Amino acid sequence: MDWNTICSYGAELALADTQLATLNAIFEKTKNSLLPECLKKWHQGGIEQYVQEHLTDPIEQYQFLLLLHIATVPFFKEYYKDLPSGMAKEISADTGIWVKKMTADYGVPCLDTRIFGWCRDCFNTRVKQFGRLQCNSKDPYLCQNFLYRNPDGTVDVVEGDDPDPSRGTPALKYGDPVINIHIPEAGPMYRADIVASLHAMADFSANYQPDYDYKAIAAYSWLLDPAFRTLLPETSNIIAFQNLGHVFIMPSRPDETLEVIWRLWGRKEMLAGPEKAMEFEQRTSLQRNVAKYLAAGGKFTEYAMIIFRDEMEKL
Ligand SMILES: CC(C)(COP(=O)(O)OP(=O)(O)OC[C@H]1O[C@@H](n2cnc3c(N)ncnc32)[C@H](O)[C@@H]1OP(=O)(O)O)[C@@H](O)C(=O)NCCC(=O)NCCS
Repeated sequence: MDWNTICSYGAELALADTQLATLNAIFEKTKNSLLPECLKKWHQGGIEQYVQEHLTDPIEQYQFLLLLHIATVPFFKEYYKDLPSGMAKEISADTGIWVKKMTADYGVPCLDTRIFGWCRDCFNTRVKQFGRLQCNSKDPYLCQNFLYRNPDGTVDVVEGDDPDPSRGTPALKYGDPVINIHIPEAGPMYRADIVASLHAMADFSANYQPDYDYKAIAAYSWLLDPAFRTLLPETSNIIAFQNLGHVFIMPSRPDETLEVIWRLWGRKEMLAGPEKAMEFEQRTSLQRNVAKYLAAGGKFTEYAMIIFRDEMEKL
């Protein structure tokens, strides 16, 4: 593969010439060995570890992962060739979104190991995009709990390995088929766009995977922590998102405090830690309120949200 080909693939992902130019040195260093080897291994996985074994400098590793991702554009096109036209174009924008975030985090256009895996999943269709939202259109439900629906529309959650036999069959349990949604960093997320995305996902599922008997839409996110109800106005899109479904704490109770710092500010602030929160930039109301909350010892936890299939039509 020559440099002009890399540049043409990068342009298809809407990466700028100036961004691509920063990858030329790593291309020259790896074009005869690591790059072709990793292209051969791409489908089988394990790339991140292989790259770590062959490049010692982390920034070089991350630049190489971006170069490799760009070089897999032909695989991406192959994966999407039988899906509706427009789907490939829509998700191709995700690379640019992450390159922007990674550039802010590391100072150069790149993909770190976590985000490379994500971008690969966007290319191999494990993650698909429908308007404002992305999803794993086939995914097992990840929470170790049992959800029981009440006649008034509320849901009871029983955590642990054992269902409650007095409640009959749970409406959802660990491992059940769901559609798992994600929100790309692509500007504000208006409720109407979110709902349109959910309906587009349901239509896609009906047409392209009619035998996939998913029980619900599932989200697992820092955005779902109820603490945001005191940190944001009622009119906020994040609160509107929380109001779409049934929200409950992840049974594993992952501490999301550093994730929230990373999402609201970036890697430098995440490494500085919550004690320094009042020194972080306070550009938005959320940054101002979260900084105060962290300074007072507040923490964030990951929560889940479920929207049952028959609840979608009422959205
Ligand atoms: C999810 C997301 C689109 C929500 O943004 P939004 O639609 O603007 O959300 P809200 O309407 O609730 O925002 C209310 C306020 O918080 C601010 N805000 C929201 N998300 C913010 C973020 N990630 N960083 C800084 N400020 C943020 C808004 O700018 C607004 O500020 P203002 O009152 O000063 O105008 C945004 O947070 C984002 O892009 N996050 C990154 C992607 C992500 O975290 N996805 C989920 C992964 S699990």
